[in-house]
Amino acid sequence: MDDQRNMRTTTALVLRTEGYTVSEAATGQEALDFLTSNSVDVLLTDLKMEPMDGLSLLRKALEAVPRLQVIVMTAFGSIDSAVEAMRLGAYDYITKPFKDGVLRHRVELALERARLLSQVNLFADEFNERHNLNALVGTSLAMRELKSRLLRVAQSDATVLIQGESGTGKELVARALHTHSRRSSNPFVPVNCAAISESLLESELFGHAKGAFTGAVKARRGLFEEADGGTLFIDEVTETSPAFQSKLLRALQEGEVRRVGESTSVRVDVRIVAATNRDIEIEVREKRFRQDLYYRLNVVTLRVPPLRERLEDVHDLARHFLERANARNSRPRRLSGSAVAHLMDYTFPGNVRELENLVEQAAALAEGEELMPEDFPVRPQAQITPSLGEVAAAFRAPGAPAQTLAEVVEEAERRAILQALERHEKDLARVADELGVSSTTLWRKMKRIKLLETGTGSEPHGK
Ligand SMILES: Nc1ncnc2c1ncn2[C@@H]1O[C@H](COP(=O)(O)OP(=O)(O)OP(=O)(O)O)[C@@H](O)[C@H]1O
Ligand SMILES: [Mg+2]
Repeated sequence: MDDQRNMRTTTALVLRTEGYTVSEAATGQEALDFLTSNSVDVLLTDLKMEPMDGLSLLRKALEAVPRLQVIVMTAFGSIDSAVEAMRLGAYDYITKPFKDGVLRHRVELALERARLLSQVNLFADEFNERHNLNALVGTSLAMRELKSRLLRVAQSDATVLIQGESGTGKELVARALHTHSRRSSNPFVPVNCAAISESLLESELFGHAKGAFTGAVKARRGLFEEADGGTLFIDEVTETSPAFQSKLLRALQEGEVRRVGESTSVRVDVRIVAATNRDIEIEVREKRFRQDLYYRLNVVTLRVPPLRERLEDVHDLARHFLERANARNSRPRRLSGSAVAHLMDYTFPGNVRELENLVEQAAALAEGEELMPEDFPVRPQAQITPSLGEVAAAFRAPGAPAQTLAEVVEEAERRAILQALERHEKDLARVADELGVSSTTLWRKMKRIKLLETGTGSEPHGK
């Protein structure tokens, strides 16, 4: 929609000729009314409009129809408002004047995304219902892959190593593994290696004989024995000493444990799931973690992706946590679309746990019934970081020798983007065109390789 009649009718005509169903609206309000009562996949809007400007329309439209793909049309040179629009959740933007071909292509991409999203969501609902994996909220591609791998692995008795940053949901994954295994009617026993001292840990896990040490007034079964027939979840397994690790290894290899101070062993039938938030390969390389134990544990790896790599899940997760908080609090709250957009612009160093804390805080402290961006005290601000001088310098610098393939690729992408940014005087739409990616992809990439800085106004929440 657009407030300039000519521009709007021509654009609509071009798209109708392509066979699309196009509706026109003369004002933002008219567009909003139409959106809420009709099924619309893509909204094309100008930014400069009266009385409701394009950014307000964008905000309200996404609030009303979260899955809507919005393309904003901007005047050449008004990159700031385009950036703001993307930040608020626009799918793409297109600089005026544009060629018919460019318009058709962008709209096609947006429709493609709308189609994909609706399929993904259908699939996700079915999947969750069938497998009751509802405890693990999230329908992003990364989460769906994780869940389907989890279900396959759960059936077997294989030892599983869960890796992921702090707060990503490793413990939930461990529980889901147990729930979906043939052991689910037997105990799930978690033990956190970081929370107990070394000597205690040993007797906790393996048990002890009467009089094995001062204070051991009677014999005690260890957690291995408690977990017999079920799953033992060894959390933060890297926080243990090599001496303890070799005892653990022996227990895993032999399938039996010996209580501290005892001379005979007992057989146990336990499935082991271990977790760590460290890069365990580095721990092994630096000799802090025994390689043989690593191989033993790492029969199957499940990687839980950090939240910043699946920001699509922020909305569902926030809603999930809010529903839970609402059930407890006397004043039920709602999430505004702009709050969700605001959250999706954040990088969540504390991952899901941080989001959980943010939502609970907001639900407890917010003024209004509807949670707004200011109820979530993180201040992400997008900015193109390099000055043109830095860009030029990056050209000449040979760059430090890259180590991994990922780093080489990242370095190459960085260079390509920097060079294109200079050629097109930071016009992101043109850069995206030249590099053959959508503006969204370019945007995400620039964020990931830190060409667009997301300042985080606060420290990670949570532990
Ligand atoms: N996909 C999810 N759906 C719902 N809640 C989640 C999800 N992922 C994490 N959570 C919640 O976030 C919090 C942190 O998750 P969890 O304790 O499993 O993380 P972790 O990876 O074990 O973190 P750490 O390494 O710090 O122990 C928990 O309250 C958990 O319920
Ligand atoms: Mg944990």
